[in-house]
Amino acid sequence: MRSLSENARHVLERRYLLRDESGAVVETPEALVRRVARAVAAAEPPAERGAWAERFEARLSALEFLPNSPTLMNAGRPHGQLAACFVLPVDDDLAAIFDALKWAALIHQSGGGTGFSFSRLRPRGDVVKTTHGVASGPVSFMRVYDAATEIIKQGGVRRGANMAVLAADHPDVLEFVDAKRGPGLENFNVSVAAPDALFRAADAGAPWALRHPRTGALVRTLDARTLLDRIALAAWESGEPGLVFLDRVEAANPTPDLGRFEAVNPCGEQPLLPFEACTLGSVNLSRFVRGGAVDWDGLAGCVRDGVRFLDDVLDVNVWPLPQIADVSGRNRKIGLGVMGWADLLVALGIPYDAPEALALAGEVAGFVQREAHAASEALAAVRGAFPGFATSALARAGAAPRRNATVTTIAPTGTLALIAGCSSGVEPLFALAYVRRALGDAELREEHPAVAHALRAAGADAALPAVRGAGRARGIDGVPEAVQRVFATAYDVAPEAHVRMQAAFQRHVDNGVSKTINLPREATVGDVARAYALAFELGCKGITVYRDGSRERQVLTSGATR
Ligand code: CDP
Repeated sequence: MRSLSENARHVLERRYLLRDESGAVVETPEALVRRVARAVAAAEPPAERGAWAERFEARLSALEFLPNSPTLMNAGRPHGQLAACFVLPVDDDLAAIFDALKWAALIHQSGGGTGFSFSRLRPRGDVVKTTHGVASGPVSFMRVYDAATEIIKQGGVRRGANMAVLAADHPDVLEFVDAKRGPGLENFNVSVAAPDALFRAADAGAPWALRHPRTGALVRTLDARTLLDRIALAAWESGEPGLVFLDRVEAANPTPDLGRFEAVNPCGEQPLLPFEACTLGSVNLSRFVRGGAVDWDGLAGCVRDGVRFLDDVLDVNVWPLPQIADVSGRNRKIGLGVMGWADLLVALGIPYDAPEALALAGEVAGFVQREAHAASEALAAVRGAFPGFATSALARAGAAPRRNATVTTIAPTGTLALIAGCSSGVEPLFALAYVRRALGDAELREEHPAVAHALRAAGADAALPAVRGAGRARGIDGVPEAVQRVFATAYDVAPEAHVRMQAAFQRHVDNGVSKTINLPREATVGDVARAYALAFELGCKGITVYRDGSRERQVLTSGATR
C-alpha cells in the first residue's frame, strides 16, 4: 500500500479499522482495503470476482480512488450500509415527522447523512385540527431532530449530519434564515431552496409572496431583494444558510416521473428524491500527473474502474429501509467525482485563480464525465440499464441506455482527502501549513509537501519559516512571485474566482459540486450577495459561503471534526 501520512493513520485507527470486543484495533490499513475490495467485488460474476477484487484493491491501495466513508467503514461487515447520502420525506403530520426522525437515526448509526425538506410543514402559529392547538413550525421540529442527532452520535460510527431545506416562499422562511445565527442546530446545515423567480423578482424590485404550504393561500409578502439580503446577512455572519437553486436542480432531474427534488444531502452536492440514496467515490487527480502533464490514459482507466466499483456497491449494499432500497434500486444513482484538484494544479504550476485553471477544470471535468458515462453505458450493455431508464428524461433525449441515472458528483472528501493525503475535492489548498484538530483530540500538524521543494528550487529556502508561520505564500517577503502565485490558498483566492471554479466543474457534473466560497474577514454583506448573483448567473446548482473567522467551530467545512 502507498505510504500513509501520520494523520491518515490516526484517522483510520480512530474510526475505520476493525476492532475486537475489547475495542482494540485488529485491522491494518492494508487489510481494510482488501476487505472493502473483496466485499464490493462480490457483486461480480463468480468467475471474475477474484480479478475484480484485485483490481479494486490496487486502486484503493495506490490511493487513486476511494469510496465514501461508509463504504470504507462498513463493507464486508454484517449489516454493511455503504452509502453516504440520503434524503427522507417529512410530511405535515406528527407521525410522519417522527417516522422520518427514526429513519434518520438508523441512517446516522450506519455513517450516512440525511437531508430533509421541511417545506411541507405548516407554519408556526397555524392551527392543529386534531388538538385545537397551535403548530410550532419547521424550525422547532428541526431542533427536535438536532437534539436526537446529538444524543445518538456517540453510538454511531460518526456524528450524524443533517441538511434542512426550506422553500423560499414558506411563511417561516425568515425564522429559518436566522436559525443558525444563535446557538443550537449544530448537527444541521441549512439551505433555502431559492427558485429562479426569487432572483427575477429581486432584480425587478418586486414583492415576494409567502404561501401556506398546504393551501397555497397568501400569508404575507416580503420584498424579494430584502429576503435575499437577509439570507446574505445571516450567511455573512454564520456561514449559513446556503442556497439551493431548486429550479435548476429540478431541470437536471433524470427521472422526473419518479418524483421531484425537494432536498439535498448534508453537504449539498447531491440532490435526491425522497427515500433516495447515493454512494459517492472520488478519483485522486494528484496521482495522475506524468512528465508535467495530466496522464489522461491513466485517469480514464481509474474513472472506469471507479464507476464499476460504485455500481457494484449498489448490489452489495444493505439498505436501511425497504423504501430506500426501492427508489435507489430503480435509479441506481452513483456519484463519482474528483479530489486533489489543487494538488494537480500545483504539480502543473498553474495558479488556482488563473484563467488556465478554469480552462483545465472544464477539460478535466468534461473528460471525467465522458469516461464515466461511457463506463455506465458499457455496464448497461451487460447488466441492463437502470430500471427507470425507459421513462427517464435521458431516454426522451435519445441518450444511450445507462446503468446509473446519475454518474458524477463532486463530494467534499473531508475525510477521504485526508486519508489519500491530497487536497479536498475541487477546493484550493486550505493553507500551506496548519494544525488540524483531529476528531476532537490530538492536534496534527500538516504542511503541503511541495512548498519546501518549490522554495528550494527557487533559491528561496530562507522564506520557509515565514511561510510556515503564516500558512500562506502570497504576500510573504522573500517568496518569489511565481511561487506566490502557484501556492494560492482558500483566502488568497477572490470569491469570484471560487464561484467561477465551481461553475466550471458544474458544467460537466450530473449532480452537484461541493464548494465553499471563502470570503476574507473584511468582506461585506454586499460581497455575499454578489457571489449569490454570480453563482446563479453561471449555472451553479447552489452556493455556500464562509467568511473567515465568522464561525469559531466549523461543523462540516474541515475534516477536523468528523
Ligand atoms: O470524505 P468522506 O467520504 O468522509 O465524506 P465527504 O466527501 O466529506 O462527504 C460526503 C457526504 O457524506 C456528505 O455530503 C454527507 O452526505 C455525508 N457525511 C455525513 O453524513 N456525515 C459526516 N460527518 C460527513 C459527511
